[in-house]
Amino acid sequence: MRTLSNLLITGGAGFIGSNFIHYLLSNSEFNGRVINADKLTYAGNPDNLTDIDKRFGASRYFFEKVDICDFEAIETLFQTYSIDTVVHFAAESHVDRSIFGPKDFIQTNIVGTFSLLETARLLWQDRQDVLFHHVSTDEVFGSLGSSGLFTETTPYRPTSPYSASKASSDHLVRAYHHTYGVPVTISNCSNNFGPRQFPEKMIPLMILNLLEEKPLPVYGDGKNVRDWLYVDDHSSALWLILRQGRNGETYNIGGENEWQNIELVHLLCDKMAKAQSKNKSYYEKLITFVKDRPGHDRRYAIDCSKIKKELGWKQQHGFSEGLDATILWYRNNLDWVEKIRSGEYKNWIARNYLKR
Ligand code: NAD
Ligand code: DAU
Repeated sequence: MRTLSNLLITGGAGFIGSNFIHYLLSNSEFNGRVINADKLTYAGNPDNLTDIDKRFGASRYFFEKVDICDFEAIETLFQTYSIDTVVHFAAESHVDRSIFGPKDFIQTNIVGTFSLLETARLLWQDRQDVLFHHVSTDEVFGSLGSSGLFTETTPYRPTSPYSASKASSDHLVRAYHHTYGVPVTISNCSNNFGPRQFPEKMIPLMILNLLEEKPLPVYGDGKNVRDWLYVDDHSSALWLILRQGRNGETYNIGGENEWQNIELVHLLCDKMAKAQSKNKSYYEKLITFVKDRPGHDRRYAIDCSKIKKELGWKQQHGFSEGLDATILWYRNNLDWVEKIRSGEYKNWIARNYLKR
């Protein structure tokens, strides 16, 4: 089992990265240091880690405002903190934004990953006690028909600028392993949900619109399918891979929990109705079918039997329970939402969504 001492976490101020840092620093099996390198784009939020900074700042938690495309800054981080493990979350992550403007996706997701890999190659030399873990997505596999599951050997067929940029970064990671022997692992995960997710993503957007009784925008016919996983279950899978994953291997992570978007929106209406003692139809009237996302992938679903068999991982959080915890978190953190909405996000929505 690998010992993790100095972890460089890229993109740790975002949704999954910040949840992973919370998971890690409350895990009694981990006693190393976390170095969070984040550029703080619109999606990076230092408020996600205020409690962590108070408890662990300057002893086990260090924040560095860094662009992963900046080779020199990354090299300095590796040297200053004697990095032995990289967990690479940093990315532009929203498919709609990649359609409106792909440039940042190419830069961060491809060039940024290259810059990290190149630093690892040059500074780690032939060390085998180190690991570069690349956090990727099931979207690299493209879209499924009504049956079948993505496995680790499904051919890549990305369809959006986002998924093409993530596929490209996966290929670079494998190339650095194959050509230079950099120790790597890759995970391809399905849709995450939970606290601290940026409110442009489907589940928080629907929860907040329900709370404010605003229209619930469902793309196309609403029959696109996603496989939902509670974010802490993603964290537990990553923890196992970091400790016990086999060098050079890829692991699929998923919820085994497929929902059509429209079914999920009905479920959220039901939950809100129960919480507010109203009729479900009161909220269902808010459902509004809107123009579809261009090239919208129809269905994603993950076969995660490899990580279950090899590393003993399993999902711990039921979907209903995870949704309840998520709804509660947003209800209790409306100031977090307001701060985001009053900034750059407001202008972005006005520039893009309102023009569709
Ligand atoms: P997010 O958009 O919430 O967070 C991304 C973080 O990366 C932000 O903190 C941002 O400031 C940072 N970042 C962006 N560009 C950067 C740069 N150039 N340099 C340094 N930091 C930069 O994303 P997320 O939803 O937390 O996703 C994290 C990772 O997980 C991504 O790689 C994504 O592709 C992958 N993933 C996400 C999901 C999902 O459902 N959200 C599922 C599978 C895989
Ligand atoms: O599958 C993993 C991927 O999941 C990650 O790699 C991405 O980073 C993450 O953003 C997510 O991508 P999706 O495009 O699936 O997530 P999103 O929340 O944007 O949309 C989920 C589904 O809901 C999708 O079919 C589009 C639909 N949708 C989305 C929004 C924002 C709507 O119908 N209405 C909406 O307003």
